[in-house]
Amino acid sequence: MLDEQGAQNYWGKQVEKGGMEPCHYLNKWQDKYAFEIRTSVFRRSDFRGLKKIVDIGCGVGDYTAKMFKLIDSDAHIVGFDFPFNIEIARKKHRDLKNIVFKEGSVPDENIESDIKSADAVIMTTVYTHLTPDSREILLGYFEKMKSGAKMFILEYFPEVVPEFQKNQAHKIVESSKEVQVRFINHGLQVLEVRPVNYIDSFLFFHWGKNWFVYFITKWLDNFVRVFKYYRSKYKLIIFTR
Ligand SMILES: C[S@@+](CC[C@H](N)C(=O)[O-])C[C@H]1O[C@@H](n2cnc3c(N)ncnc32)[C@H](O)[C@@H]1O
Repeated sequence: MLDEQGAQNYWGKQVEKGGMEPCHYLNKWQDKYAFEIRTSVFRRSDFRGLKKIVDIGCGVGDYTAKMFKLIDSDAHIVGFDFPFNIEIARKKHRDLKNIVFKEGSVPDENIESDIKSADAVIMTTVYTHLTPDSREILLGYFEKMKSGAKMFILEYFPEVVPEFQKNQAHKIVESSKEVQVRFINHGLQVLEVRPVNYIDSFLFFHWGKNWFVYFITKWLDNFVRVFKYYRSKYKLIIFTR
């Protein structure tokens, strides 16, 4: 696994490759599908009554901006990421006055202090990219969250980590059970495990990454959605402090 400097360099290179869209797959159609499916798992009721939400590893702010549509009108979101992503996020979402983008990566005392006063923390596809040390430090920050505050983590959390996901430089995948036990050991309780019905990579991988596969995948997704498949590899796990 990369160390903290290595991780920063890795994400910096993604910006060089991806311009204003540096995260995820760097393919327009697969990214569009991922964005739509992943963000559709959040509901307005998840954020009702929450005034301050902290988005850790907000990237260029696209998911943050989507969450912004679900929060109360008097609420605000603070998004943290490396400076090169924050620079883009500020440009892309300058109209959204209730989002503040701040430079900062775990470990960081500003992140710690914003987490302490937050009503909720969000992390979308960030946790697996944190070094083991950063994970432990972040979990320590969560121990200091307000009682009753929520923690939303959307991630690739399979039941069993497949071989091909092991020994990668830029991520360490944990199973759904592993992550729940870890968070519980740091004083959080599981409120809900919400599966993300997600069939993205199969056809994109076999048939190519193009608009046709995007539409076929979206169409097939309507059928998959009828069933809540709790073994889905992507999950939104909602914890409370
Ligand atoms: C897959 S992207 C997800 C970005 C965004 N949350 C989204 O869903 O589009 C992972 C993000 O984690 C950020 N990241 C990696 N290590 C981090 C750290 N130690 N602290 C904060 N963010 C980090 C990266 O810069 C990158 O923006």
